[in-house]
This record gives sequence, structure tokens and C-alpha cells, in this order.
Amino acid sequence: MNKNPIGIFDSGVGGITIYEEIHKLLPHENIIYLADSKNAPYGNKSEEKIIEFSVKNTDFLLEKGCKIIVVACNTASTNAVKYLRKKYDIPFIRVQPAIKPAALSSKTKNVGILATKRTLKSDLLFETSQKFAQGVSVIEKVGEGLVSLIESDKIQSSEMNDLLNKYLQPMLEKDIDHLVLGCTHYPFLTTQIKKIVGDKVTIVDSGEAIARQTKNILNKENLLNKNNTIPYQYFYSNKDPDVLQRILNHYDGDMKAYKIEF
Ligand code: DGL
Repeated sequence: MNKNPIGIFDSGVGGITIYEEIHKLLPHENIIYLADSKNAPYGNKSEEKIIEFSVKNTDFLLEKGCKIIVVACNTASTNAVKYLRKKYDIPFIRVQPAIKPAALSSKTKNVGILATKRTLKSDLLFETSQKFAQGVSVIEKVGEGLVSLIESDKIQSSEMNDLLNKYLQPMLEKDIDHLVLGCTHYPFLTTQIKKIVGDKVTIVDSGEAIARQTKNILNKENLLNKNNTIPYQYFYSNKDPDVLQRILNHYDGDMKAYKIEF
């Protein structure tokens, strides 16, 4: 089982930001990545639909022999992981918006969070804010349209800049000093976001924390791959693999995106 791959899925290409951190921390682990881009965005679908997609994605990764599954999507994590953990006898790692570290280090006591509608509406987000952001005002904005633009290869576009300005300016007016990226697609927008929010706002995402947690759980379950060999890594998309490929081209290594019917 130790040599079996880590399975990672997202509604699309966003989970690559999580893959990157996992691969950095666990360079010998085999990895299978699944982008369910055909069904993106998940963010404004019903909880039932998000669970249905997450089950399909999990079944695909289990067929490939995955030993653990990282749900590299905040929307699926906040809406479907409870269900997945009950249904399957395999460890699941979920991502969670990094409200806790942002709230703890905020000096202005105002933090912003940009995420999908479903993530912002979830019980998990409510509970996290209640528990870790007491005395801090959390300014929420739905990043409507951002995932679709990223999935259509329009990261650098005037539409993207207009949307980001629209969502971030009201947060700046409320004097935020931390901005939580509550969607795994959004770290691809860090350069544009920085231009809008400037140096005084710290941008926080959960990539590194998720990678550390994946390592801890693999270690605890005795599932770490002890072989120091070059791992295999497969990246699948059920829509346009060129979009995934262009994202992969930003990283070192010869990573190839494959199209699957799914
Ligand atoms: N990457 C997903 C997330 O973290 C995007 C959700 C969507 O498809 O709307 O929430």
C-alpha cells in the first residue's frame, strides 16, 4: 500500500496549488490528480450535486489504487467530506480556509475572505469563524466568476482584474490587513491580487498546512512511501486538458495532462 499513489481532486485546475505543496514536502510520493473541470464551478451548485461529484471523483481515484485522498477544493471539503468519510474506509484530507492564522495575526482586527458561495455558506466556515475569529470582523465576498475565468484560461485578463477590484475594494475600505484565499483556484491570482491590495495586506492560503497534514496522516497510518525513487504522477482532466497543461507548464518537471471521458 505504501507505494500506492496519493489521490488529489478538485472541481478543476485549482487543486494544482495544493499538489504543488504536497509534492514539495513529499517528493517521493506517487500522485494521481483529477480535475473535474467538466462540472466546474462547484461553488454555486447544491450540496447534493457537490456530494455526487465528490463520490464520482473518489471512485475514480480509488480505482487507480489511491491510499489517501486529498480533497483539494474548499467547496467539496466544506460540503462533502463528512459524507465521504462515512462512506469510505480511507483517510481523507480536507482543505479549509485559513481563517485561524489570519485572525490570530490581524492587527486591525479586520480580515477578508474570498471564497465560493457554497464555502461561505457552509457550517464548517461558520464554526471556524466562531471558534477562531472572536473579536475579529470577517468580511466575506463571493468570488463569483473567478473560477470560470481561470478554467477558461483567462487568468491574465481585464475581466479578471475588473472582478478582483470589485470584490477587494470594499474589503480595503474596511481596513483589512489579511486576505484569506478560501478557494484553491485563487492562489493563481496572487500577482493580480497583490497589485490591488498592496503590501499592507497579507495574503493567506492553506496549501502548506494541507501538505503538512497529509504527511502527518500518512506517517500516522504508516503509509509513507519509503522508496527514494522518482515517483510517477498523472494529471487527468475531463474537459480541456490544454488548460491543465498550461498550468502544469509553470512548474519544473515534465508533467503531462491527459484527457479522460468521465
Ligand atoms: N477550487 C474550488 C474551491 O476551492 C473551486 C470551487 C468551484 O468550482 O466553484 O472551492
